[in-house]
Amino acid sequence: MQDFICTKTENFPDSGSVCWTSPSNIALIKYWGKKPVQIPANSSLSFTLNECYTKTKIDFKKSAEFKIKLFVDGAENVEFLEKIETFLTRIKQFCPYIFTYKLSIHTENTFPHSSGIASSASGMSALALCLISIERIACKLSENEFLKKASFISRLGSGSACRSIYGPIGVWGKHPSFFESNDEFAVAYNSIHPIFTTFQDTILLVDKGKKQVSSTLGHQLMNNHPFSELRYDQAKENLEKLKKILTNGDITSFIQLVESEALTLHAMMMTSSPYFILMKPNTLSIIHEIWEFRKSKKVPLCVTLDAGANIHLLYPEQVKSQVLEFVEDNLVVFCENQQYICDSVGNGPNLLMEHYA
Ligand code: PMV
Repeated sequence: MQDFICTKTENFPDSGSVCWTSPSNIALIKYWGKKPVQIPANSSLSFTLNECYTKTKIDFKKSAEFKIKLFVDGAENVEFLEKIETFLTRIKQFCPYIFTYKLSIHTENTFPHSSGIASSASGMSALALCLISIERIACKLSENEFLKKASFISRLGSGSACRSIYGPIGVWGKHPSFFESNDEFAVAYNSIHPIFTTFQDTILLVDKGKKQVSSTLGHQLMNNHPFSELRYDQAKENLEKLKKILTNGDITSFIQLVESEALTLHAMMMTSSPYFILMKPNTLSIIHEIWEFRKSKKVPLCVTLDAGANIHLLYPEQVKSQVLEFVEDNLVVFCENQQYICDSVGNGPNLLMEHYA
């Protein structure tokens, strides 16, 4: 943690502008349960997405007094500003230079607002990348140091956001089988069978409303959960199994493991105290339709869920047209306003523009 404290005060630009896009991600091995501050109770692994991303631009100028303005989709926003201020206070010890500027933050998402897709992973990672870009210039950070610190800072904003820094796969949380994996930031994982780089994620929007139980509370409820220790051990074993599957391209085992992880996550919710259910009747209808389709048509596809009612349908590109036809014919009826998003595994964030004066 000490490594991430920036003590340098000279060579920071007087003003500038930096813009990044950063994607959302979908976990295959789920992170559920944490210790302060944002330390995961188990390691997790996710596919980084391609189409669902946040674009964030920061204009900054030296200022005697710290000031910040936030614009979401071009309009000034105070609701999210509070969240960002809390986040900046949390990272102050690591990035004190932020408070020597006047900041103007412009942000927008490619996916619809209140679609039930968490924008925290893409939003926090895009913001972190912009902020650490300023530090990169002043402190001459190497590419590796830059990505590590951006992932570390993203984690302090929203745990799973730290995995979005890397594509096609991010791993977060110490695990003996993943080189340099640790609890403070995510690492990239690229040793995968080519079939997985073609994977599609069709996100079926079952419920676009706000969740009744936040992730923050859900994580907390793992603290006194009767099955938490077993779950953490299982996640560790499952990550080991997934590593082998990702190497050998065994889709049948992939399907079984990924679905089991998703249902275990929701089983943890249902056995928390107090218990809660985030799936909706249509979530279950979709799962049953998919299982039936897979069995009858022998199409390799599987479902996963994050902490919500929406379904992520994962499958290799080679069966895309067949799956999308099935989605149109059988699944859109279960989606709110018949809405779904077509995404795929992506390569991670992109720097769109930076200039410093
Ligand atoms: O990063 P958070 O606190 O929003 O938690 C994310 C939890 C899950 O999406 C359910 C699982 C995961 O690993 O992304």
